[in-house]
Amino acid sequence: MAQAHFQVDIFTNTLQSQCCKYQLTTLLSSRSIHFKIASQNPFFRRFKLSKHKLSTSQRATATMMNEKQSTERYAVVTGANKGIGLETVRQLAASGVTVLLTARNEKRGTEAVSSLRGLGLSKVIYHQLDVQDSQSIQALANFIQTQFGKLDILVNNAGASGVIVDEDGLRALNIDPASWLSGKATNIVQDVMKTTYDKAIECLNTNYYGVKNVTQALLPLLQRSTTGARIVNVSSLRGELWRIPNEQIRKELGNLEALTEEKIDGFVDKFLHDLKNDELEVNGWSKMLPAYSVSKAMLNAYTRVLAKKYPEMCINCVHPGYVDTDINWHTGTMTLEEGAQGSVLLALLPKGGPTGCYFDRTQIADF
Ligand SMILES: NC(=O)c1ccc[n+]([C@@H]2O[C@H](COP(=O)([O-])OP(=O)(O)OC[C@H]3O[C@@H](n4cnc5c(N)ncnc54)[C@H](OP(=O)(O)O)[C@@H]3O)[C@@H](O)[C@H]2O)c1
Repeated sequence: MAQAHFQVDIFTNTLQSQCCKYQLTTLLSSRSIHFKIASQNPFFRRFKLSKHKLSTSQRATATMMNEKQSTERYAVVTGANKGIGLETVRQLAASGVTVLLTARNEKRGTEAVSSLRGLGLSKVIYHQLDVQDSQSIQALANFIQTQFGKLDILVNNAGASGVIVDEDGLRALNIDPASWLSGKATNIVQDVMKTTYDKAIECLNTNYYGVKNVTQALLPLLQRSTTGARIVNVSSLRGELWRIPNEQIRKELGNLEALTEEKIDGFVDKFLHDLKNDELEVNGWSKMLPAYSVSKAMLNAYTRVLAKKYPEMCINCVHPGYVDTDINWHTGTMTLEEGAQGSVLLALLPKGGPTGCYFDRTQIADF
């Protein structure tokens, strides 16, 4: 006999509402219901309930629970053990989303989760994720598939600077924030910031290929979102097109009609080739944080291509502001709370919200 199955996620103590607990008790109190625990995850247990064994009222209860599951929103934030990522998790969890706080280091990740739980945010769960590691990405995708069966929000936040920095030397320069933002500091910092080939690879594999690989692995789950999938790519003003001296590169990256993922990957290869041959300046790549700037320019271009391919989702990129974090050696001036506002706004966009856009914090801006 064909059997339809209800799949119900049951939250354990920290996550469950009294209502959900009551419904579960009602369901399981009937001896006619056969259930099997499909997962032993400490936070979730998935029960499969055979439809033909349910009474009308039990079916109604199960339907209610399924509806709850379909309106429950699940998010992933990458690089979330500190900085803007951690604050993004905090704000999303505070607004009722169940958030997977991911980090490449388990100790740093679990401590970050504990800090949020200490604030009373129980809907935060740790999962390991190194965005440069394909096995780690697949393990995360498998976990979400098993535990939630869908994903609603992906915030690609993890980032690397692409330089080796003499931090004492940088501090001694005492550069004012306006010079950082306008690009005036470009020549001043050259002696204290070095872009090595290895650092550039790490940066591009994190900020560009890391985002692509995580997104690719999670897209099938995002396509199963019942509340409207949202992808937020945390970019930087360093990736704005006007900052790239080479006019041809600017033109091609700005031409959405002809832009493809292959073309964007080709620019990354060309950049790395030019870096290896000490030809960055002569070929018109940004002098300020060259690998970082390229990684974010390519991330913006990728965001547009992806948004065009999946028009049913809201896929955007955002410059968070100049925020006081480790990635800029604490030269930033904004608070974490301010820095996470753009990501959170885009993660919670209502149906029909903008897609394929670049935001400067909370405002749409030019690519
Ligand atoms: N702060 C700003 O002013 C500013 C401006 C523009 C854009 N952004 C962007 O904002 C995002 C967040 O940066 P932030 O300012 O919050 O800096 P941050 O405090 O240094 O955080 C960066 C995060 O990325 C993680 N990460 C690095 N490589 C990773 C990998 N391979 N896999 C997983 N996680 C990885 C780091 O983990 P570990 O702790 O393990 O290193 C850390 O959690 C970045 O994309 C950055 O480019 C920041």
